Amino acid sequence: MSDAEAKPSTSRRRLPGDPAPEAAVKRMIRVDQAGEYGARRIYEGQLAVLGDGPSGPDIRHMHAQELRHLKAFDEMVAERKVRPTLLQPVWHVAGFALGAATALMGEKAAMACTVAVEEVIDEHYARQAEQLGDQEQDLKDKIEEFRAEELEHRDLGLARGAEQAPAYPALSAAIKAGSRLAIWLSERV
Ligand SMILES: [Fe+2]
Ligand SMILES: [Fe+2]
Repeated sequence: MSDAEAKPSTSRRRLPGDPAPEAAVKRMIRVDQAGEYGARRIYEGQLAVLGDGPSGPDIRHMHAQELRHLKAFDEMVAERKVRPTLLQPVWHVAGFALGAATALMGEKAAMACTVAVEEVIDEHYARQAEQLGDQEQDLKDKIEEFRAEELEHRDLGLARGAEQAPAYPALSAAIKAGSRLAIWLSERV
């Protein structure tokens, strides 16, 4: 058995065609920076519409946490010389538009958007943490820390009536599909 086999660099065996570990980690940082950027823009879109309403303080709280998440990944991108996604200008517009459009449908629709996005980010961070195994402990700790805050955002959205939004199942499914597509694209482009 070779050293590489005896001490796999991730928790699961690498499959043929899997990116090398360093490339895989860079890809994680790229998509996470993109995701946190998108999250920041979604909350900015919500704040533009609902900032003075009853949910304003909660949205500002979530936005502040997204800024902290984004700053951490911005620093990792710089330190590790990760190429950021080329799609950032798209997420700049699409994130804000998603946040503002759902907010214009009402506070509960905005919260439905929050719940859908945060559930997808939770799945995404859980998968990354599993893939990292015992590698990259600092990155993994950050991912787990941020994941806990994303779940807090989801719970805030649920507490503010996300599930009572009009057409909740369809709205949620559409936003989740869009979020998963954004993740898929940001890992690759
Ligand atoms: Fe976040
Ligand atoms: Fe979040």
